[in-house]
Amino acid sequence: MDKIQINGGRKLAGEVVISGAKNAALPLIAASILVDGTCEFTNVPNLMDIHSIKLLLEDLGARCAFDNHVMTVDGSGIQKIEAEYELVRKMRASILVLGPLVARFGHAKVSLPGGCAIGARPVNMHLAGLEALGAKIGIDHGYIEAKAEKLTGNEIYFDIPTVTGTENLMMAAVLAKGKTVLRNAAREPEIICLADALSRMGAKISGAGTPIITIEGVDRLAPALVTVIPDRIETGTFMVAAAATRGNVLIKGCNPDHIGGIISKLKASGAGVEICGDQIRVRGMEQVKSVDIKTLPYPGFPTDMQAQFMTLMCIADGTSVIHESIFENRFIHANELMRMGADITLSRADIAMVRGVPELQAAPVMASDLRASASLVIAGLMARGTTLISRVYHMDRGYEAIEKKFCALGADMVRIK
Ligand code: EPU
Repeated sequence: MDKIQINGGRKLAGEVVISGAKNAALPLIAASILVDGTCEFTNVPNLMDIHSIKLLLEDLGARCAFDNHVMTVDGSGIQKIEAEYELVRKMRASILVLGPLVARFGHAKVSLPGGCAIGARPVNMHLAGLEALGAKIGIDHGYIEAKAEKLTGNEIYFDIPTVTGTENLMMAAVLAKGKTVLRNAAREPEIICLADALSRMGAKISGAGTPIITIEGVDRLAPALVTVIPDRIETGTFMVAAAATRGNVLIKGCNPDHIGGIISKLKASGAGVEICGDQIRVRGMEQVKSVDIKTLPYPGFPTDMQAQFMTLMCIADGTSVIHESIFENRFIHANELMRMGADITLSRADIAMVRGVPELQAAPVMASDLRASASLVIAGLMARGTTLISRVYHMDRGYEAIEKKFCALGADMVRIK
């Protein structure tokens, strides 16, 4: 298994270009199941998770090609309606094929995604939503089976805004008979990106980006060309890395409108943040100020940035309280940061108190999930000495060419095969 070795203590400086968003690209690719023809997606990041969903669609019978950040998917040959365990277990977001498969073929079998390092992550709201649209749902030998001759529009209320749940139900409802209203829907930019894509394919959707999304079903969708939005979490990760190393970095090709919470908290921590169109310059300050954060559904502070921000708070001038309200087990990185000299108390399963220390110390550490690995990279860049991060396959699921991008900013970072 690959490891990343970082000789830390260097200030990051220069420019970095942000890739397309993994969590926007995945539902777009799944949506091509709805179309009898070839869809084309541009600005698709070259990541493990993208290769995983491509393999899954190919296994269903789609013809896919992926080159130079362009993915084409021809769903006309899809005959298989079963997403197998071996493919789904590699990536939970495979659940995104459930809605489109039932909508187009009236039948789908998708392996139940298992447990996850950051929480239980059930899919009950996806299934309740499909049932409300008239699907019969069964769980059999670890597989979800959904059947419906023709889905019918309905009112669906989500107890909690769920990102992939909202996406799954949007994709199911676009081919349903009549009107569907999704209430308390997720409002993430990735939802708007999917709604725009489905609209280009001929779907009738309004309200994406608000808590109420209305969908009028249509008989069929047509192929479309769609561009993936910039990755707001990759953007935030480079912003925090620039601030944490007291660097000066110009982040290009991002969408500042999508990261209001991150910008606001970074400014509060003392970093200089200048926005100019699709570029953001971040300048780190000598002394980081302590800031409290609470993760919330969009437009709140993203849970996918909690670990990286905690790392920055490790060298702040006081105590910061970090409240993780989305996932029940998303502090595994805190124990690794403590191995690097951080002073963190987990006062509750969802609350971490981070008391700033003057500096972190390099140490061997282990990544537990995608965003935890990003936080350890930032910690390694901050700490003097050599940090060795193992289990970096988590990072390869969601950050394209990360060591290349950090090295171009002056980091001393190598992958050890
Ligand atoms: N939840 C339920 N039942 C459901 C669905 C969700 O109880 O049926 C709960 C979850 O357990 C969680 C909360 O609702 O407590 C919100 O979860 P959500 O469904 O929104 O998460 P997700 O759709 O599985 C997406 C991203 C995650 C990101 C979360 C939250 C994708 C492919 N994944 O997951 O991204 O953390 O939204 O913003 O879009 C990552 O990229 O590292 C990542 C984990």
